[in-house]
Amino acid sequence: MTTTDARLTRVRAVGTGHVRVEGLAKVTGAARYAGEVPFAQLAHGWLVLSTVARGRVRDLEEAAVLAMPGVLAVLDHRNAPPLKTDYVGLLGTVPDPTCAVFQNDHVPHLGWPVALVVAETSEQAREAAEALVVHYEQGPHDVDFTADRPDAHPVDGHMPAVTEKGDLEAGLAASAVVVDATYTTPEEHHHPMEPHAATAHWESDRLEVVDSNQGATWVVGELANLFSLDPGSVRVRSEHVGGGFGSKGVRAHQVAAVMASRMLGRPVRVVLTRRQMFTLAGHRSPTVQRVRLGADADGRLRALEHRSLSRTSTVYEFVEPSAGVARVMYDADAHRTENRVVPLDVPSPTWMRAPGEAPGSFALEAALDELAHACGVDPIDLRMRNEPDRGPVSGLPFAGRNLRACFEEGARRFGWAGRDPRPGVRREGRWLLGTGTAAASFGAGAAPSTASITAEPDGSFTVRIAAADIGTGARTALTLVAADALEVPPERVRVRLGDSAFGPAMIAGGSMGTRSWSWAVMAAAGDLRERLVPGMAIPAGGVTVRSDTTAAIAALAQKERHSFGAQFAEVAVDTATGEVRVRRMLGVFAAGRIVNPLTARGQFTGGMIWGISMALHEEAARDAVSGGPVGADLAGYHVATHADVPHVEAHWVADEDPEDPVGIKGIGEIGIVGAAAAVANAVWHATGVRHRSLPIRPDRVL
Ligand code: MOS
Repeated sequence: MTTTDARLTRVRAVGTGHVRVEGLAKVTGAARYAGEVPFAQLAHGWLVLSTVARGRVRDLEEAAVLAMPGVLAVLDHRNAPPLKTDYVGLLGTVPDPTCAVFQNDHVPHLGWPVALVVAETSEQAREAAEALVVHYEQGPHDVDFTADRPDAHPVDGHMPAVTEKGDLEAGLAASAVVVDATYTTPEEHHHPMEPHAATAHWESDRLEVVDSNQGATWVVGELANLFSLDPGSVRVRSEHVGGGFGSKGVRAHQVAAVMASRMLGRPVRVVLTRRQMFTLAGHRSPTVQRVRLGADADGRLRALEHRSLSRTSTVYEFVEPSAGVARVMYDADAHRTENRVVPLDVPSPTWMRAPGEAPGSFALEAALDELAHACGVDPIDLRMRNEPDRGPVSGLPFAGRNLRACFEEGARRFGWAGRDPRPGVRREGRWLLGTGTAAASFGAGAAPSTASITAEPDGSFTVRIAAADIGTGARTALTLVAADALEVPPERVRVRLGDSAFGPAMIAGGSMGTRSWSWAVMAAAGDLRERLVPGMAIPAGGVTVRSDTTAAIAALAQKERHSFGAQFAEVAVDTATGEVRVRRMLGVFAAGRIVNPLTARGQFTGGMIWGISMALHEEAARDAVSGGPVGADLAGYHVATHADVPHVEAHWVADEDPEDPVGIKGIGEIGIVGAAAAVANAVWHATGVRHRSLPIRPDRVL
């Protein structure tokens, strides 16, 4: 090695800001998304969704539609192939029947897929789909989500429905100060920039789907199960994905495309419209949460109860586990949490960025703020007095917590010291000003993945992993991780992802993607370096090693693994119009080793901005009469726009998971956690009025 080379190898790529390796391809349009990849003989499918909220399909007038220009087929429950639905999928759940399309005439909600019209062009398919007359036998529907539903019941989901220790009522009775408050959050939607899209084609008995998803391995597994195929004969590719946020798993359009493609013997593409996404892409359930806190006069908790009710469909039991956040954040001798659901005639909800923690932290962190005021204790001091040294429910040690460091750094940067705790006393013309804070946490797990690395004859390296870069910057992060592990500059590493042919890998979900994939890349790089003897000539086909982290991850010690954070917001409330404007926002996170500060900052601030949006704007309205969404578009569903987003800063403190080969924890979801509570707490500090229902709309403020 020359001196220059030796110095280069000491420059660590991980921890240094790098622009996205595919950035140029994306901004020039060279990067193709699932709905754009060209296919010869491509046919286009358009989904027809039910216009009634409950009932059955009595008849479809498909003959008229089949006579329309370019129409090739109409697929519905009378001619669709049967699917297998009694399996447990990769993520440990049975499939949502919403994705098992056209299996019967039952309509469980408005917007349920009842047919697919396939035509030569997308325009012809759309015109015919809109012309298709469907006759329904309509039944009474119920979409009334209220706290006192008698049919609400506990559901375990991915965690136990109920955790309980100590005597809650006795703990509350013995407390000097009690807060008992109910908080609500509305139905919310993901709406990634790129709508869901899939193109399916068969080559003899092999199925290939070009798709926009959060995990090619996942989609292969579900499609193989549904269609009773050998997973080895299914390939899913998703090279570029324009956002997912939990909404991009297996849904109706992929399954319909696979069916139609088999029926016609041609590639078939199905793309969801923005409007269809309101019923077919999943959403976050509304929640009603009751939090009861009992504390000594100094704010030390004696009793904590967090109960959450969310809504699910009648065909699938999905729980938004909002009470789960209390199992990590705060301890008390008497501690009780409970997640319940009520099934109604609505689409199935699904994971949406920080499922559970996003709405759960709004309720819990607002309740902590109410307790701080009732005790006359500073909101940060109150949290620091209640820092647990073990998992409040699990009793396990934390693999790093560092929440204290986040609050110290955050308070310093935000200028919290000397804050006047009195609400409603800071005026600036017609504006009332206030500041608020909240804590955040999100799970930091790792899941088995496989990766391969090829040492190429030209001295470069090709990494292959079925990871999904849904816009997080995962491709770039993996390039940096591989470069450091191989001790070469990032320019000599090429990362290929989004192809199930690269072997099983974790999904881009649960804030576990980059960590899980990096682990596999580290393992492969280590093996490859052992294989490469200095001075060895690389054969034309390169030298390839393959890794699998199943055993390493199974050996992880049992600990509470989470990222943590402290959120701060300053708001101004217009006393004339009720408008709330966030003036600045700051988040400080302890989220493990930060691989790429540039894209990591984007992840954090993106989540925080979503928190502003959740606090002030987002609310999907549902019409009780039709049972369907109202204003199902991005004009009716308000999200924060540039004008709503002020100076938003994200920082992090030194933190790492010592058992992770890179030290990563995970940053995908924590940015939104606590963000809405920080804004709501600031609104209270500004006005003296506690808003316990999101969003904090002007009409609620006045
Ligand atoms: Mo996330 S809600 O795990 O995409």
